[in-house]
Amino acid sequence: GLDIGKLLSTTGVTTLDPGFVNTASCVSSITFIDGDKGVLQYRGYPIEQLAEKATFIEVAYLLIYGELPTQAQLDEFNGKIARRMLLDERMRELFRAFPRGAHPMQVLAAGVTALGSFNRDTLDVHDEGQVEEASLRLLGSMPTLAAYAYKSSIGAPFLYPRNNLGYVENYLRLSFGTPQEEYEIDPDVVRAFETLFILHADHEQNASTSTVRLVGSADANIYASMASGVHALSGPLHGGANQAVLEMLREISKEGLDIKDFVSQVKDKKSGVKLMGFGHRVYKNYDPRAKIIKGHADQLLRNSGTSNHLLEMALELEETALNDEYFIERKLYPNVDFYTGLIYEAMGFPAQHFTALFALGRLPGWIAQWREQHAEKGRKIGRPRQIYIGATERDYVPINER
Ligand code: ACO
Repeated sequence: GLDIGKLLSTTGVTTLDPGFVNTASCVSSITFIDGDKGVLQYRGYPIEQLAEKATFIEVAYLLIYGELPTQAQLDEFNGKIARRMLLDERMRELFRAFPRGAHPMQVLAAGVTALGSFNRDTLDVHDEGQVEEASLRLLGSMPTLAAYAYKSSIGAPFLYPRNNLGYVENYLRLSFGTPQEEYEIDPDVVRAFETLFILHADHEQNASTSTVRLVGSADANIYASMASGVHALSGPLHGGANQAVLEMLREISKEGLDIKDFVSQVKDKKSGVKLMGFGHRVYKNYDPRAKIIKGHADQLLRNSGTSNHLLEMALELEETALNDEYFIERKLYPNVDFYTGLIYEAMGFPAQHFTALFALGRLPGWIAQWREQHAEKGRKIGRPRQIYIGATERDYVPINER
């Protein structure tokens, strides 16, 4: 076949594509997106079907191993993950060391990095058995790490995970349980989280996944790649948008701004204000994930009896934007982050913790993408080129002559 690397080095041709708008960095069999039609599929299965019918761990299995598990395979996989939820006792000290109020994404990334140090028998990226074990440890540890990042940020005591609880149940209990009282698990909340995590589980070559692949391409250990993914996800233009949306809604509410005035502010480029939770590099149509989440937000918030004020505002914002020339022209629609924050808030999470929930959902996708890349024959280190526009050659000037 065509050796693109050789072609480039011999012809001297370099393509310049800032932000990789038109550049594919890999071939993949994991996730398919048709951004114009608003289609998302994991391994060929429509996201709508998975969100409604599957469990998160079933989807994790699908993403990582390529096929839906049988009941026996799923039971075994669940069991393996559940047995890896307990962290090394000394990791609790790490979480205790962070100041109260530290951002959970920073604490989570530190936790994932540390996990590599506590699992040194799984760092060899060329050993399939170690990669498998590391994948399971990451999946098992992530709910505990995310819950401890939350507990650490509010200065609350940590609980131990329980083998007899499911993935989401464990996560919720670790987050909201206290040593004094048994945490009551609400099956509706569990199902909502299963759905939300499924919707976040993979999204092909977004910024965090590309980061995971790039770090992985250098043969850095899998924990280092995942921690880098957490950092990339934390940005407000990426996963951090879920926190930013809620803060935006609160600000509009606090300032008593009229929705139409706020949208005018967004349209005035000089203001530097963006409509957070809107727009997407790939979707030029309604984000199919946002469509599903919007339905859930509506139902959950109305059932929970909590204040619908922010939801009403979000709905009005969407309606106003979707009928505005600025947004129509640019094909800007709500993305996955537009409605998630409202649900997370109704469930009791502070806005600062929202992006950690995204990370928890995205982990299987990162693992699947890392493994797909590592299974590739003739894999190359990621190393983009540049177009140099700096000074031409000049002579060094001694410091006293400058
Ligand atoms: N509010 C106002 N204007 C916007 C928005 C927005 N949210 N998003 C894009 N635009 C405008 C841009 O200013 C630009 O206008 P111009 O052509 O007049 O210069 C045009 O729409 C195209 O936008 P780009 O920024 O070029 O699109 P890009 O693909 O580079 O960015 C991104 C995509 C980062 C998601 C962008 O839409 C954005 O910043 N949205 C808000 C943050 C957000 O919600 N991020 C979450 C994304 S989903 C996820 O990561 C899970």
